[in-house]
Amino acid sequence: MTPEAGFHMRHKHLLGIEPLEADEIRLILDTAESFLEVSRRPIKKVPTLRGRTIVNLFMEPSTRTRSSFEIAEKRLSADSLNFSASGSSVSKGESLIDTARNLEAMAPDMIIIRHSAAGAPHLLAKVCHSSIVNAGDGAHEHPTQALLDAFTMRQKKGKIAGLRIAIIGDILNSRVVRSNVFLLKKLGASVVISGPPTLLPPGMERLGVEVDARMEHALEGCDVVMMLRVQRERMARGAFPSLREYFNLYGLTEERVRQAKPDVIIMHPGPINRGVEIAHEVADGRYSVILDQVTNGVAVRMAVLYLLSGGAIGELAA
Ligand code: CP
Repeated sequence: MTPEAGFHMRHKHLLGIEPLEADEIRLILDTAESFLEVSRRPIKKVPTLRGRTIVNLFMEPSTRTRSSFEIAEKRLSADSLNFSASGSSVSKGESLIDTARNLEAMAPDMIIIRHSAAGAPHLLAKVCHSSIVNAGDGAHEHPTQALLDAFTMRQKKGKIAGLRIAIIGDILNSRVVRSNVFLLKKLGASVVISGPPTLLPPGMERLGVEVDARMEHALEGCDVVMMLRVQRERMARGAFPSLREYFNLYGLTEERVRQAKPDVIIMHPGPINRGVEIAHEVADGRYSVILDQVTNGVAVRMAVLYLLSGGAIGELAA
């Protein structure tokens, strides 16, 4: 059901998908539709956040999330400060809390944070007055990724409820899978997760998903296949014998795609390890919506920034 005009977010921060109600998720997705239209105009700029200051505090590498927040802020006419750990006083040992407090002393309205420690955005939410947006915290959550994934599924399939979605790969180290599972279950999808047993954390069934280490079984009859990156930077040695072995057992090939529905869509949050979790021809093939996810990420992040700044659906200026 579409939220009524005037409906606002109940939360000041976006720390994860887990605390959101289904109607807030729908509010973000519906608001993002309007911003996708803005991104298709010849002049891709609206005055919605003029005079607001947003700090992009990225303490971990990022291509898509960081660029997409920066573009979203520019399209909303906000003023942005881009902060990286390298070249800052973090390299002299300044703590996250002190860094955030000092940045906040310059009166931003919002802080977007990516950090390798799970819970870092929650910590900032306790000590800062600004709205905090989690742009990925350790292996915990990546809420805007799950929102843009859901937006893309809804765009391609017309709905989320009733879809069968396989999420395959390095489940253990993934913040994307956690946010997606929370979101997809709240919106009524059925989710199966698969990957090498060493990368399947125990207890995932408690989140309401099926777990099947046999990739071909997990793919059967799926509307959506979401492949996850093998996160070698977070992985202990010995999770699997070799990258070649991983591809042989869990790589998404054209042959394996045929296990899913004929109109399946293939997703990946990026960055992609081609020839490890996904074959070149599948990543670039007819079922792939991987670059649509990136395009939609800008509209979804514009919606998040607008709504956390107090905006409501149906109140957007043309
Ligand atoms: N999907 C994603 O978070 O990509 P980046 O790490 O490049 O931001």
